[in-house]
Amino acid sequence: MDLRLGDTAPNFQAQTSKGDIDFYEYLGDGWGVLFSHPADYTPVCTTELGRTAQLKDDFAQRNTKVLAISVDGLDSHEGWINDINETQNTTVNFPLIADPDRKIADLYGMIHPNASNNMTVRSVFIISPDKKIKLMLTYPASTGRNFNEILRVIDSLQLTANYSVATPADWKEGDDVVIAPSISDDEIPERFPKGHTKVKPYLRTTPQPNK
Ligand code: BEZ
Repeated sequence: MDLRLGDTAPNFQAQTSKGDIDFYEYLGDGWGVLFSHPADYTPVCTTELGRTAQLKDDFAQRNTKVLAISVDGLDSHEGWINDINETQNTTVNFPLIADPDRKIADLYGMIHPNASNNMTVRSVFIISPDKKIKLMLTYPASTGRNFNEILRVIDSLQLTANYSVATPADWKEGDDVVIAPSISDDEIPERFPKGHTKVKPYLRTTPQPNK
């Protein structure tokens, strides 16, 4: 399936290291991160799953559930998770989907045949509570993802969902944000009582509203 931003994330049922799940039920009414791994027992993936487990509290603070997927089977996942726990000094506390027939990998377009026709690329999908796809990232197998960046995007998306703001280049928690063009100058004082700076008529900034 050719998924794009704003599309509804397809639901699926899967076997995982935490038992059988229905994707939508697992996400509940919170945010979700679904990310794929080329294969079990590979070095970069081992560090990525470990890092995600270490960030458990950071995802929970953002009301976000994570789920990883690899096209290997459950038996393989179980042995690999033991290795991850041992080598990354953590406990993998989120489901790792077994997808040996690549049903879910195909549903989410995670196999890019010109990169590899038997392994997924490193895809990341961030899904909002209404099950819309809010972010899609694709990394090559040889580059481990930056999980701080994934948390940063969740922060930005949640700000945008709750206030009429966007986040500028390299924004990080606590920095000023950009007021959405849909807000007129007249509305700003009531909507953004912390004040604002009008750099240009189309570029108006304000302190982060939820800080
Ligand atoms: C890895 O996770 O280390 C990896 C997987 C596939 C190709 C290259 C590296």
